[in-house]
Amino acid sequence: MPALENAGTPATTPATTPATAEKTLFGKYEVGRLLGYGAFAKVYHAREIHTEHSVAIKAINKTFIVKGGLAANVKREISIMRRLRHPNIVRLFEVLANKKKIYFVLEFAKGGELFAKISKSRFSENLSRRYFQQLISAVGYCHSRGVYHRDLKPENLLLDENWNLKVTDFGLSALTDDQVRQDGLLHTLCGTPAYVAPEILSKKGYDGAKVDIWSCGIILFVLNAGYLPFNDPNLMGMYRKIYKGDFRVPKWTSPGLKHLLSRLLDTNPATRISVDDVINDPWFRVDYKQVQFHEEYLELKYDDDDDDVSNDGDGGGGGDNLKMMNAFDIISLSPGYNLGGLFEEGGATSASAGERFLSRESPERVVGRVVEVAEREGMTVVRKKEWCCVKVVGGYNCNFVMMVELKRLTEEIVVVEVRTAESDVRAGPTHRIWKDKIRPQLMSLFHVS
Ligand code: ADE
Repeated sequence: MPALENAGTPATTPATTPATAEKTLFGKYEVGRLLGYGAFAKVYHAREIHTEHSVAIKAINKTFIVKGGLAANVKREISIMRRLRHPNIVRLFEVLANKKKIYFVLEFAKGGELFAKISKSRFSENLSRRYFQQLISAVGYCHSRGVYHRDLKPENLLLDENWNLKVTDFGLSALTDDQVRQDGLLHTLCGTPAYVAPEILSKKGYDGAKVDIWSCGIILFVLNAGYLPFNDPNLMGMYRKIYKGDFRVPKWTSPGLKHLLSRLLDTNPATRISVDDVINDPWFRVDYKQVQFHEEYLELKYDDDDDDVSNDGDGGGGGDNLKMMNAFDIISLSPGYNLGGLFEEGGATSASAGERFLSRESPERVVGRVVEVAEREGMTVVRKKEWCCVKVVGGYNCNFVMMVELKRLTEEIVVVEVRTAESDVRAGPTHRIWKDKIRPQLMSLFHVS
């Protein structure tokens, strides 16, 4: 198994890092051992104190993002990633921040890295197919929602406790090493290009779907062979091999798998196989069980864990059944802890991912005014089951969604939380609908700053 040590950027615990770093984050998570680290992020195991559930917390230095001019990308991608729900994708539960760092609270994949298993021996064809099917299912789900990984590589492929695949970092492509580094170095030299499509190496612009498919091809090859298809001790040598797309499958590879690999590792993105065609491939289809799950993509659901945190209130001091805010909600109102204010210098809040306001108006009046303004702007208002939560849909092709939710902070004050999202982030800056059209008409409601 000679090639796998070349297969990714460092993801293991460095010898100098303490195995455990007992620390409490926001009074909610007890942070434990380091699970992995890259150029700009560290991932820790943590336990949610209230539920004792394990999570993984990815901590990123805010300066990387602000200096890299990536704030808008990150906010947009967070809003997308929060809505990705697929059994083979690591879920993003919440995003927290303080003045220095952003913390992504992720589903914990107990089985660790898939490729740690491969370093012992290559996988059988059936097992390779099973993991490849799960990978394609996750990739296809995201692609159909306009989300591309762009950095599929071994350390992003994890296993859960049942040995099922969990792809991590989907939707966080703004945070890949390449984009974060602003040092003018040839970025691909910092990591291995082993999983990178030729069109990325040639920096000619690329299609996110096609580069993911290429990486899936490399992953399938490694699962079956136990080594990389394009490898060379010299980086330029590896580049050359990738450009040429010249690879040989090991002798145990079946004709069906060989054919599929040749379609995945086609150096021409225009003729490379698509996810839909992979799913119809005869080798792929053997024992393929399509994932069944229910989700409403455009639903800007509040995370379930908002409810997990103890809600000691009995329904509200105002007698209106508004949910009382808990201590964690209140802490997160402070600008230093507020994602909305995270990226702007001076701590001003921003609209595209979410904003919170305090109001002394009655909840009924706030909701009524939101409905009135949205309808006047020609948008569709969907009342949620809970009267204190409204969804607004509009914009070109209905790709703008806004959720407004009210919670009671004190007997006199309600917190109005506004979240906006776009179903197709490439369709344009729909957040201006909120910022320019809706927000100014609501500001008179918000008295308490
Ligand atoms: N390493 C990186 N992300 C992880 C996760 N979500 N679970 C377990 N280990 C990880």
